Amino acid sequence: MARAMVLIWACFFVILGMACVTGLGVNWGTQTSTPLDPKYVVQMLRDNHIKKVKLFDSDHWTVGQFAGTSIEVMLGIPNLHLKKFSKDYDAVQDYVKGNVSDHLRDHGGVAIKYIAVGNEPFLKSYKGAFEKTIFPALKNVQKALNEAGLGNKIKATIPQNADVYDSGTQGPSAGNFRAEIRDVMVKISRFLDENNCPFMVNIYPFLSLYENEDFPIEFAFFEGGGQGVQDGNIKYTNMLDANLDTLTYSLKKAGVNKVKIIVGEIGWPTDGHKQANTKLAHKFYGGLLKKLAANKGTPLHPGYIEVYLFSLTDENTKSIAPGYFERHWGIFRYDGQPKFPIDFSGQGKDKMPVGAKNVKYISNKWCVLNEDIRNLSSVNGHLDFACRMGDCTSLSYGSTCNKLSARMNVSYAFNNYFQMSQQSVEACDFHGTAKITNKNYSTQECLFPVELMSTGACKKIARIKYLVGFLSLMVLL
Ligand SMILES: *[C@@H]1O[C@H](CO)[C@@H](O)[C@H](O)[C@H]1NC(C)=O
Ligand SMILES: *[C@@H]1O[C@H](CO)[C@@H](O)[C@H](O)[C@H]1NC(C)=O
Ligand SMILES: *[C@@H]1O[C@H](CO)[C@@H](O)[C@H](O)[C@H]1NC(C)=O
Ligand SMILES: *[C@@H]1O[C@H](CO)[C@@H](O)[C@H](O)[C@H]1NC(C)=O
Repeated sequence: MARAMVLIWACFFVILGMACVTGLGVNWGTQTSTPLDPKYVVQMLRDNHIKKVKLFDSDHWTVGQFAGTSIEVMLGIPNLHLKKFSKDYDAVQDYVKGNVSDHLRDHGGVAIKYIAVGNEPFLKSYKGAFEKTIFPALKNVQKALNEAGLGNKIKATIPQNADVYDSGTQGPSAGNFRAEIRDVMVKISRFLDENNCPFMVNIYPFLSLYENEDFPIEFAFFEGGGQGVQDGNIKYTNMLDANLDTLTYSLKKAGVNKVKIIVGEIGWPTDGHKQANTKLAHKFYGGLLKKLAANKGTPLHPGYIEVYLFSLTDENTKSIAPGYFERHWGIFRYDGQPKFPIDFSGQGKDKMPVGAKNVKYISNKWCVLNEDIRNLSSVNGHLDFACRMGDCTSLSYGSTCNKLSARMNVSYAFNNYFQMSQQSVEACDFHGTAKITNKNYSTQECLFPVELMSTGACKKIARIKYLVGFLSLMVLL
């Protein structure tokens, strides 16, 4: 009896110990004025026990940094290559050789597992630009992988936006691919299925909330609040489950029953909108990671779900067409420092994640408005310019720097432009209205950043970006 009890307890603790998120992945995008050195990123992922990374390109130097690390890497082929890759098979073979195969050998090899062909190619805002090329490009990439003898180990897929399917106002069981792209989506899904490639989908409860004021907010989270969606015998209490099962029904209608589904992106931004903040991000990730650790899956797919969080760090040069929040998806700041407590193991501990170590900044200097400028309307042109060339998204309504005074607003904009121009002295002039200071102008809520020291290849790009900015400033004045 006593022995049985001990056994039961032992099992209990083993089960508890295993309650962690298996094979968690994270997206890492580099649309920033100075990307974090991949060496720091590798260390950060290790320190936080993140096992997989999804990249948006196949930059040779970056990918090479993952050699010998056992971190699983997903490469990305940007949409701009789709046309070429759809008809130029030689180019695809060159890509597989130069950007994939070569990495498998050097320095212990990079654990490349997936190639993401294009990125959300059916987004409505692309107006069908990639509709003809995406499927041929996918087939060519998998064919070239197969012919290089890598087809069993490395699989091609397409990260899709969840708007490729919907269920109207009904539950998931009414799900189907969007009528105008249904033919090609059915073909793609069958191809993925036949080739043992996964179906990848990006799911954004935040965007549903952002796009629709009436979206029931609790449905975006995982606490079972709100009234949920009743679908036959199943009650859905969170959007992730409902969305994934809508996809499963859509695939079934396409005759596809066994394809593996991966969530390519999911996350919550922390700035640039009133609902984009660290408090809601903390709540979202807390619930999501706990759910993943419990391996509950969805009503139709109980069990493990492979997930890539979006995103590792902020990206201050991303297009803000989708909204100001677009530059603030990072779980970590631009410099790899944590923003809010998050427990990647899914055990809900309220602890800060491990930030990037030994990060080097240019120097502790800021650019601000000169005190002797009294007439603020005289600097309006400079403010507009600094915001257009730099990043003022944190000044917007509901954001971290929205409570600054009018003078501080100008300083914030000047400083961001100055930092993004690698602290070039000429970038802190604005017709003599600005000055460089050693004083940190950050407030409790609002960070006045200091630019990262750029490494290797990035330096040249930053310099060119700055020169272009400087020339347009000359034209403007
Ligand atoms: C392959 O790698 C090179 C070198 O980093 C890069 O310039 C090129 O864009 C990559 N090709 C693709 C299709 O990503
Ligand atoms: C402030 O600057 C604006 C624009 O340069 C100018 O039109 C206005 O007259 C100035 N106001 C004062 C009080 O100098
Ligand atoms: C600072 O700038 C933001 C964004 O342009 C604006 O919403 C805010 O009202 C400004 N603050 C002041 C005090 O002018
Ligand atoms: C400036 O101050 C902010 C807020 O106190 C702080 O988070 C940041 O690290 C400081 N920057 C530097 C370079 O010391």
